[in-house]
Amino acid sequence: MKVGIIGAGMVGSAAAFAITLRGVASEVVLVDRNAALAQAQAEDILHATPFAHGTRVISGGYADLDGAKVVILTAGVNQQPGETRLALLSRNAAVFAEIIPQVQAAAPDAILVVATNPVDIMTAIACRLSGLPPGRCFGSGTILDTARFRALLASHLGISATSVHAHVLGEHGDSEILCWSSAMAGTLPVAEMAAQRGCPLTDEVRATIDHGVRRAAYTIINGKGATWYGIGGGLARIVQAVAHDESAILTLSCLETGLMLPGQDTPLAPVALSLPRVIGAQGISDTLTPLLSPAEAEGLAASARVLIAAADGLS
Ligand code: 2OP
Repeated sequence: MKVGIIGAGMVGSAAAFAITLRGVASEVVLVDRNAALAQAQAEDILHATPFAHGTRVISGGYADLDGAKVVILTAGVNQQPGETRLALLSRNAAVFAEIIPQVQAAAPDAILVVATNPVDIMTAIACRLSGLPPGRCFGSGTILDTARFRALLASHLGISATSVHAHVLGEHGDSEILCWSSAMAGTLPVAEMAAQRGCPLTDEVRATIDHGVRRAAYTIINGKGATWYGIGGGLARIVQAVAHDESAILTLSCLETGLMLPGQDTPLAPVALSLPRVIGAQGISDTLTPLLSPAEAEGLAASARVLIAAADGLS
């Protein structure tokens, strides 16, 4: 399977590296307006292929995306220290208006995966610009926040993150909702697992984990200027779900029209946000209705309203 990546900065190259190490694509094409950067990243990653899989890693122009099954969009400006993801909106919308027609001219059948922030609104913009159905043009959404939640819960419980099942829904950003009420470790609710492991999930522990997930990007950006490994891993996980036609359940951002959220009695205005999605070879085939506590349901609706208001502000 051929995968294109637009943007060869830290996120695009981390995604290419993770896809290569995971062996989930036969070919990865890096495209960047800085052709020298794309070439250098592709060469560097190619040199890791003997330690991993025989992936062909190249750089090129849009024409080289011909035949790509998935194209990942990472191009755009990043958050500066202290800046929210939503502050990037108008600059990155202009970038997408330039690149999406070129991607589609070269790879009209490709599934588009948006990683550029603010990812939810960029997903809605990409859907409108591409004309693709939402299941074939979606965003990485809260796949990373979900991973952060699982990783921090796992550290607290002293078990593997792969044995923790917990979701973060809504905006990939400040208003996101950590779904504590449905979080499981193995076959046990996390609170029961914590009690059995002798490390209770006190209010203080929960607040620390919530802060660690919600503020992770700010903390990492303060320390090293940007985040890339976590999202690179998440993008490779999405590619794997498509390549292996997995019907995996991942929290991804998809444009919703007339969505009725749990606990609400009126449908939402069009908005892209993360819910648990079933993803396979054709992209997103289904959306699952999460079981939420009343507070989580209210929080998810509030998160949707934040996104609707932010999108309304984009002329
Ligand atoms: C992250 O959450 C900045 O959205 C990026 O790491």
